[in-house]
Amino acid sequence: MKVAAPKDDGPFVKVARSDQVPEGKAGTYVIGEDAIAVFRVKGKLFAIDQTCVHEDGPLGEGKLEGHVVSCPYHDWRYDVRDGRCLSATDRAVACFAVKGGGRRHPHRP
Ligand code: FES
Repeated sequence: MKVAAPKDDGPFVKVARSDQVPEGKAGTYVIGEDAIAVFRVKGKLFAIDQTCVHEDGPLGEGKLEGHVVSCPYHDWRYDVRDGRCLSATDRAVACFAVKGGGRRHPHRP
């Protein structure tokens, strides 16, 4: 799979084989200065910033239910499709485009 930074549309960077992220799980990767969490939901891959906006919890280690991941520290919830924080609706984490093993994901927070 390849992931692109959220600030522009490229370039895409290969981070792993897409089959390394099983259904309902996450993989965590570092691209430059960005730590990202990649989730697979219903066969599709979604990538968001790994760091919770509350107190820097590791979202890639959170519990995934449908398209929502809960931070393992204090349970703030995020939609992995666009990075929106569902616990503090004025907050969001960055959302990254993904190619390979899923669909290209154009949404931005
Ligand atoms: S650090 Fe994520 S909810 Fe507190």
